[in-house]
Amino acid sequence: MRVLVLGGTKFLSKAVATELVRRGHDVLCAARGASGDVPAGARLIRVDRNDPEGFAPLAGERFDSVIDVATMSLTWVNEALQALAANAGHWTFVSSISVYADHGPVGQDTSSPTVEPLVEATEARTPADDPAAYGRIKVASENRVREELGDRAFIPRPGLITGHEDWSDRFGYWPARFYQGGRAVVPDVPDQPAQYVDVLDLATWLVDAAEQRLGGTFDAIGPITPFPELIAEVAQVAGQDIELVGVAEDKLLAAEVKPWAGPRSLPMWVPGFHGMLSHDPKPAADAGLRHRSLGDATRAALENELRLGLERERRAGLTHEEEADLLRLT
Ligand SMILES: NC(=O)c1ccc[n+]([C@@H]2O[C@H](COP(=O)([O-])OP(=O)(O)OC[C@H]3O[C@@H](n4cnc5c(N)ncnc54)[C@H](OP(=O)(O)O)[C@@H]3O)[C@@H](O)[C@H]2O)c1
Repeated sequence: MRVLVLGGTKFLSKAVATELVRRGHDVLCAARGASGDVPAGARLIRVDRNDPEGFAPLAGERFDSVIDVATMSLTWVNEALQALAANAGHWTFVSSISVYADHGPVGQDTSSPTVEPLVEATEARTPADDPAAYGRIKVASENRVREELGDRAFIPRPGLITGHEDWSDRFGYWPARFYQGGRAVVPDVPDQPAQYVDVLDLATWLVDAAEQRLGGTFDAIGPITPFPELIAEVAQVAGQDIELVGVAEDKLLAAEVKPWAGPRSLPMWVPGFHGMLSHDPKPAADAGLRHRSLGDATRAALENELRLGLERERRAGLTHEEEADLLRLT
C-alpha cells in the first residue's frame, strides 16, 4: 500500500509508521519534523498544518490509506480532507474516549452519548490547549471524516495510551515509582476500574485496519481490570522492595492531590469518573485489536521511563517530597 501518515515523528503516529514500514508498505509522513525523526524506511514530507497552504506539496497525490492523528483542530482535519480525501482509499482518524458526554457510568460503548461538537473551532487553527474543548473538537472532527469518507472512515477512540515513547507520564508513573522501592502512596479505591492500551498494540491494529479497509467507530482500549489488581501486578513486575500504602480518597483530596494527571497527581485515579477507564473493549477485540499482557505492558512502560530518566520533572505524578509529606499524614 501507499500510505500517508499525518504525523509520524512522535509516539502513536511514529509507531504506526514504523509498523507500516516493517510490513513493507510505501510510507510517507507529513509533519514539520519538530517532534523528532520519522522511522527509518519512511519518507518525511515537511508540512506545517498551521500554514493554510501546508498541504500544497501533496496536491493531487493518491494514497491507499491516510492516517490522521490531528489532536485538537477541526481546521487541520477539514484541510486534510479537502486536500486528500477524494484520492484516498481508506481514512483513519484517531479520536479519543474523551468524546463521551458522561464519564460517570461504567461499561459505556460507542452507542453512549457524546459531547456537542465544537464547530466554531474552524475559526481557530489550533485552539489553546483546553481540556473542555478537546472532546468537542474530536466529535466535530469525527463527523467531518464520516461525512467525507462514509464507510471508508475508520475512527478508533483510544483511552489511555501507554508504552514505547509515551510522553504523557501517566501510566508510566506507576512502574517508575515502584521500581524505585520504598513506601509508595496508592489511592485506596477498591471499586475503581482501570483500563489502558499499549501503543504498539494500538499501532498494529491501526495498520491491520488500513490493510483490511476496516470502517466504523470503535473504543480502542484493553480489558477492564480492577485498579487494585492492576496496581498490585505493576508493583510485582516493576517493583523492588516496595510497600504499597493505600490512602483514602477523601484524604488525597484534602491534601490537594489531583486525580488522573498533571503535577501533584496520582495518575489513573479517577474519583467520580470511573466511566473513563471502563469502556467496553469487546467490539474492538472482535474487530482484531489484540493486547499484550499487563506484565509486558508494564515492562514496556518501565523501559520508556528508564530511557526518559526517573528523576526528570514529570508531567504527572507526585514528587518524592510530595509523597513523603503524604506518608507523614497517614
Ligand atoms: N496519549 C494518549 O493517551 C491519547 C489518548 C487518546 C487519544 N489520543 C490521540 O492520539 C493521537 C496521537 O497522539 P500522540 O501523543 O501520539 O501525538 P501528538 O502529540 O498528537 O502529535 C502527533 C503528530 O502531530 C504532528 N504535528 C504537530 N504539530 C504539527 C503541525 N503544525 N503541522 C504538522 N504536523 C504537526 C507532530 O509532528 P511534528 O511536531 O514533527 O510536526 C506529530 O508527529 C492524538 O490524536 C491524540 O488526541 C491520545
